[in-house]
Amino acid sequence: MENLQVRRVAILGFGTVGKGVYKVIRKQQEEFPYIIGAELEIAKILVRNKAKYSQEVEETILTDTWAEIIADDSIDIIIEVMGGIEPARTYILEALRAGKHVVTANKDLVAQHGHELLDTASQNNCDLLFEASVAGGIPIIRPLKQCLAANTITEVIGIINGTTNFILTKMSQEGMEFQDALALATELGYAEADPTADIEGYDAGRKIAIMASIAFHSRVTFSDVFTEGISKITAKDIRYAHEMDYEIKLLGIACNTPEGIEVRVHPTFIPKNHPLAAVSDSFNAVFVHGDALDDAMFYGRGAGELPTASAVVGDVIDIARNMQNICTGRIGCTCYKSLPIKPMAEVKSSYYLRMQLEDKPGTLSALAGVFGENKVSIFKLVQKTRDNDTAEVVIITAPVKEKRIQEAIKTFSQMEIIRKISSVMRVYD
Ligand code: NAP
Ligand code: HSE
Repeated sequence: MENLQVRRVAILGFGTVGKGVYKVIRKQQEEFPYIIGAELEIAKILVRNKAKYSQEVEETILTDTWAEIIADDSIDIIIEVMGGIEPARTYILEALRAGKHVVTANKDLVAQHGHELLDTASQNNCDLLFEASVAGGIPIIRPLKQCLAANTITEVIGIINGTTNFILTKMSQEGMEFQDALALATELGYAEADPTADIEGYDAGRKIAIMASIAFHSRVTFSDVFTEGISKITAKDIRYAHEMDYEIKLLGIACNTPEGIEVRVHPTFIPKNHPLAAVSDSFNAVFVHGDALDDAMFYGRGAGELPTASAVVGDVIDIARNMQNICTGRIGCTCYKSLPIKPMAEVKSSYYLRMQLEDKPGTLSALAGVFGENKVSIFKLVQKTRDNDTAEVVIITAPVKEKRIQEAIKTFSQMEIIRKISSVMRVYD
C-alpha cells in the first residue's frame, strides 16, 4: 500500500504495560494498514530516566520532557500508562485540549476524575478510551458501552483483582493460610511490594466504580464504594464454606436498585454452582445481568504485560479508525442520569458468622434472642466443635439489612457468653 497516512502515538511510561504496548504495536506493524487504513508509528516514549531504558528501546524516541510531546502537532494519540493521579491527569487534560486523543489504563485516575476527563474530551471532539483500566485484557468497557447499550443493566459482579483471586485460590485448593498465600503471590510476582491496594479491595473498588458508572449511566466514584479486604479470612472459614457448598471470593458488586446504586467490594460466600465460583488463580471475570441479554460472563487475564497491552492497543486502533473516518468523539461520557448511592447500612445481604460461645444451657437462646430483637432471621446454625467449655458455631442468616446485623454484632460483643466473633462475611444469594 502506498501513500498511507501515518497516525503517530506517544507512550507515557515504560513499565509493565508500556513495554507490552511497544511490543504489540511493533509486532502488528504490518497489519495496521489493513486494520486501520493507516500506518501506526511510535513517535515518542516518555520516561523519567532515559538511561534506564536505553538498552530496550531506540534512544531517538525516548524523551524525559513532556513539553516535547505536547508541542508536537504530528502526534495524534497519547497512551498514558504511567499510573497515579498526577502528573497523569494534567498531561491527559493538556493533550485533550491540544486536540490529541487519549488511551489510558489508569483505573485510579478514571475512578476519581473520569467525568472531568470525558467532559474535556467531548469539548475538544476527542476520544478518551480506557478499556484496560478494568480487568486488563478482558473486553468489558466497550461491551458495556456499546454491545449492551440496548439493555437496562441491573447487576455487574466481578472478580476483578488477580492478586487476591490467586491468594484465595491457594487458600481454597491447598489449604494455605492467608500470610503464606500472600508470600507465594509476592514470590511469583503477582503481588506488588506494597500489596495494600489489592488486599484491602481498593484496586477492585476503583474497577467496580468505573463499571457501575457505565452500566447504570450515573456517576460513581471510588469514594462511593464500600471496601473490605481479604486479610481476615482463614483456612478454616474456607473449609466451612466448602462444607456448605460455597467458595469465598473477593467480589466487586454493583446493583441498580429502585432505592439507589449499591456498590461494594468484600469477601463473599458464593454458591459453588455460580459461574464466578469457578474462576481461579489470577484470572478475572465479570458477570453482567441485562434485561434483554439475561446473563453474560466475560472471563480472561485481568492483568499482565501483553493482556493489558491487548486492550490498550485495541483502543488505539479504534481511535485511529475513527480518525480515518472523521468520526472521533462519537462515544463520550454516557452518564446522563444522577442516581443516588445507597448507604451500606441499607444494603441487604445474607451473612456467615463464625462465633465462639460459652458452652452452657441458655447460650443459644440468648443468641437467638439478640438476632430476633434485630429482625435477623437464622437460615442455618451448626455447632462445629467443642473445646473445654467453648463451642464454635457457624450461622448463615436470611437476607437482612447491614445495619441490623451490625447492631446484633455490637450487642454480641458486649455479652460474656459470646467469647469471640471470629468471622463475619456476606453471602451472595
Ligand atoms: P509500572 O510498571 O510501575 O510502570 C510505570 C512506568 O511509568 C514506569 O516506567 C515509570 O518510570 C513511568 N512513570 C511514572 N511516572 C512517570 C512520570 N511522571 N514521567 C514519566 N514516566 C513516569 O506500572 P504498570 O504496571 O505498567 O501500570 C501502568 C498503568 O496501567 C497503571 O495505571 C496501572 O494501574 C495500569 N494497569 C496495569 C496493569 C498491569 O497488569 N500491570 C493492568 C491494568 C492496568 P520509572 O521507571 O521512572 O518509575
Ligand atoms: N493489581 C491488579 C491485580 C492488576 O492484581 O489484578 C492491575 O490492575
